[in-house]
Amino acid sequence: MGTVRKNIIIIGATSGIGRALAGVFATEGHVVGITGRREALLREMVSERPASFHAATFDVTDTATSITHLETLAAAMGGVDTIVISAGGGDTNVALDFDIEQRMIDLNVQAFTQLSDWAFNYFKGRGRGHLAAITSVAGMRGSRQAPGYSASKAYQINYLQGLRQKACKERMDIWVTDICPGFVDTPMAKSPVRFWVAPVDKAARQIYRGLQKRRGVVYVTRRWGFVAWLYRLLPGWLHKRL
Ligand SMILES: NC(=O)c1ccc[n+]([C@@H]2O[C@H](COP(=O)([O-])OP(=O)(O)OC[C@H]3O[C@@H](n4cnc5c(N)ncnc54)[C@H](OP(=O)(O)O)[C@@H]3O)[C@@H](O)[C@H]2O)c1
Repeated sequence: MGTVRKNIIIIGATSGIGRALAGVFATEGHVVGITGRREALLREMVSERPASFHAATFDVTDTATSITHLETLAAAMGGVDTIVISAGGGDTNVALDFDIEQRMIDLNVQAFTQLSDWAFNYFKGRGRGHLAAITSVAGMRGSRQAPGYSASKAYQINYLQGLRQKACKERMDIWVTDICPGFVDTPMAKSPVRFWVAPVDKAARQIYRGLQKRRGVVYVTRRWGFVAWLYRLLPGWLHKRL
């Protein structure tokens, strides 16, 4: 049996993991709504694959307007089966500069929450759907180099768990996938210490397979699942010395 064609929105598809994932979905014959702030990149993607891509340009941290943009995009696509939140990011913040933390909170916490809630309620209204978001193995424990980033990713991981539990207990046909990467080779990945860096196309194909199987958590690459497990088990007295 061939793949069932789906309509997918990828929020944050102008670069990195979101862009590569949009390419995989399009290649597999799905229709993809792509978003980001950089309109020129979105136009370029649509002109390359006009039959596959629908675009919407907006800043997800503008909480007054972002949901209207998403509703318009979803309607233009004739409804959506899957929504992937890839818009996110962060910086190290050794000096504890609040402006840096504020930007991460706006993006990874506030906007993420608004987008997730909208997606969940949208699928509830339709009777089914699949929400996925890209978190990070960095969310397993606090980080002295990037306390805001690691905390915001922990928030996302727990938020998705809450939505997954809600869907299960309320017997809704809504699947929630936490895509949890270690390092992926994208413009965002700036950390000076990097290892097991996955090429973005490899990461996107693995994420695609995980979404097709409706997995609860997809570690990218799979060996990062082992690191995440180990890191969680690390006793506090040792973690604070790292
Ligand atoms: N790369 C890694 O090693 C890695 C590891 C673990 C987790 N992650 C997570 O994976 C996700 C994607 O990261 P990436 O590496 O693919 O980064 P990226 O290449 O910088 O891509 C980020 C995407 O999000 C969009 N975006 C960012 N801020 C936005 C805003 N305010 N409004 C609308 N769109 C916005 C960007 O589009 P515009 O700039 O056009 O708005 C871009 O398309 C992030 O949540 C990141 O934390 C990445």
